[in-house]
Amino acid sequence: MDRLKLGTGLMAAMVITALGVGSAVTQAAGPFTAAQATAGHAAYLESCASCHNKMDPLGFGLENYDGIGRWRTMDGKFPVDSSGTLPNGKTFSSPAEMRTLFQSQLPAFSRCVTEKMLTYSLGRGLGAADRRVVDDIERKVAAGGYGFQTLIFEIVRSLPFQSRRGENGPKG
Ligand code: HEC
Repeated sequence: MDRLKLGTGLMAAMVITALGVGSAVTQAAGPFTAAQATAGHAAYLESCASCHNKMDPLGFGLENYDGIGRWRTMDGKFPVDSSGTLPNGKTFSSPAEMRTLFQSQLPAFSRCVTEKMLTYSLGRGLGAADRRVVDDIERKVAAGGYGFQTLIFEIVRSLPFQSRRGENGPKG
């Protein structure tokens, strides 16, 4: 088991201990895999999996990058394991393979990135009224060959971004 998974396992063990759940679960090597859980706690761990099955593989696929983005093949004394399984069951064993899986769903992936970037840029959640803006940006990003610069440019040009008020600006 590599260090990240071990580390995550240990952290999960601490979380579970802090939450006062029985010690049997803390000994399970993969706390997010319901199959590895002891029967009594399977449902409990399934509730973790509802989020972690989606998030964790993305992190595993990026394990070859250290905290400041440098490529690495070892994590301390342990070889990096950048394999994972996406919620749709597709598996990868390197960042390049994960990328290929995303590329096979480029429009959906791009729309998700657009929504996240717009949320970040506006500093607020998106509502139904923002849907047309996202559609519009998405069309232009697709027409521009899905370049990241196009995405930034179109967000900055968008009406919600242009009409955003700075925290210290005039109110009301
Ligand atoms: C509603 C969604 C959700 C559920 C359910 C959930 N988590 Fe999380 N968990 C998160 C998010 C979001 C993070 C933060 C991820 C990040 O920023 O790196 C996180 C982070 C963690 C981390 C730290 C991982 C790391 O490497 O830093 C541990 C450990 C963890 N969760 C354990 C659990 C356990 C155990 C359960 C079930 C009891 C659980 N989580 C259920 C969303 C969830």
